[in-house]
Amino acid sequence: MTARKRVGVLISGRGSNLQSLIDACREPDYPAEIVTVISNRPGALGLERAQSAGLPALTLNHKDYASRAAFDADLDRALRDAGAEIICNAGFMRLLTEGFAEAWRDRQLNIHPSLLPAFRGLHPQEQALNAGVCVSGATVHFVRTDMDSGPILAQAVVPVMPDDTVETLSARILAAEHKLYPYALKLVASGEVWVEGESVRGAGSPARCLFFPQ
Ligand code: GRF
Repeated sequence: MTARKRVGVLISGRGSNLQSLIDACREPDYPAEIVTVISNRPGALGLERAQSAGLPALTLNHKDYASRAAFDADLDRALRDAGAEIICNAGFMRLLTEGFAEAWRDRQLNIHPSLLPAFRGLHPQEQALNAGVCVSGATVHFVRTDMDSGPILAQAVVPVMPDDTVETLSARILAAEHKLYPYALKLVASGEVWVEGESVRGAGSPARCLFFPQ
């Protein structure tokens, strides 16, 4: 197998998506490995997950920085020091500067709990319920400066049930996220997909979509 891609994971909290990536990277033929986990919030549960997995983890508390640019400069340095080649945002609740987004263009992924471009921003599950959609899901996309925008790498689709609450729908989507993120990272790390301009090339859309993953 060619060298595994070195991945930095950015978190702010619970880290259940981080855990799914940790578990995937344990597979011997998985084409990526996690080289650092960075949280912008001290005490994030995800930091404990990293520690339990024996991964290098650190906190860069955004409150310690006078500006977004100063925070992003340190973040960039920490990722480069770790030798990261790809960044996975996994519940990372920070907007990034244009400079950072450009520096990692087409090498930074984010996961969002809706079928983008629908329901960007906060509370996408509630937005989906309010809109009355029949299906929702999760999206992994390449990061651009605007929130929850950028070329769509992969999506997972789940049904919306008539009696769903925000909690039940969120749980169904989260379970799908845990299948989707390792799948999407594998597509990129193995070179099966790549970005040209604003388009994703390589594997076609059916191969980039999981339907009702259990
Ligand atoms: C996930 O729903 C993710 O899509 C969103 O934030 C949540 C993070 O959950 N961006 P976790 O920290 O990975 O458990």
